[in-house]
Amino acid sequence: MPAWQWRWRFPADTGAPATTSDALRRLTALGRTRSDRALLGHALGKLDAQHRLESKIAAEPNLAAIMTEFVTRLMDAFSSLSAIRGQAVLDIACGSSSSRSPVTGLETSEFEPWMCRLLLELGARPVGLDLGDLADEAFEHHRVDLGVPGALDFLATESFDAIHESRLFGSPEFRSAHGPAAERIRRELHRQERRLMRPDGTLIHSDGRSGPGTTSRQVRGSHADTADGSAGC
Ligand SMILES: C[S@@+](CC[C@H](N)C(=O)[O-])C[C@H]1O[C@@H](n2cnc3c(N)ncnc32)[C@H](O)[C@@H]1O
Repeated sequence: MPAWQWRWRFPADTGAPATTSDALRRLTALGRTRSDRALLGHALGKLDAQHRLESKIAAEPNLAAIMTEFVTRLMDAFSSLSAIRGQAVLDIACGSSSSRSPVTGLETSEFEPWMCRLLLELGARPVGLDLGDLADEAFEHHRVDLGVPGALDFLATESFDAIHESRLFGSPEFRSAHGPAAERIRRELHRQERRLMRPDGTLIHSDGRSGPGTTSRQVRGSHADTADGSAGC
């Protein structure tokens, strides 16, 4: 089941509806060390103040599952959340304030650019790419149609410490514009990911490729480009 359709439950759930402040507390509690929890609590507080994270989770509970997934990916990819500070991170199809749900086809806060926002608050230097509206975002972003050949050629070779690419292929925008060309585009994206990542860079997540924490060296040496359609997209 795609991650954005998970029912967000933790083992300690009582079945009672969670209050919105419970939601942020639970996300903060994902931190595996005291220092990660402190960093996470601070970052999530900023996301709440700037982007109304709590009330958006209350309105669309699957957003909590997505945030859980993003926090977990970062912790799996980096030894500690403090290691993210200063890292140049590319997020391909990062989400936007106009992105639509594959389930309803309507605009949704689930696919706002939460990974880039979180990375920014953790001290990283995220660069987000998307076709949707990113005009009000504080991180570096580019409006790019990922289905166009050469769309990522403007980015310098080996210019990123880490890369995240998630859930492009199942999105309604992508399917309607580029559905039949999905495999060609997937191969091209994976080629670009290998080109763009610095030696010993970290693959946080890429649909259809090896899991979080994979290093650039492993990605370059792999033959994983015969993607499987990838969970979650
Ligand atoms: C389902 S959202 C995923 C957002 C985020 N990466 C995540 O994992 O939650 C898919 C995103 O892909 C973007 N997208 C779809 N087709 C695109 C294209 N051809 N070029 C660039 N972005 C595209 C949409 O605008 C949307 O923001």
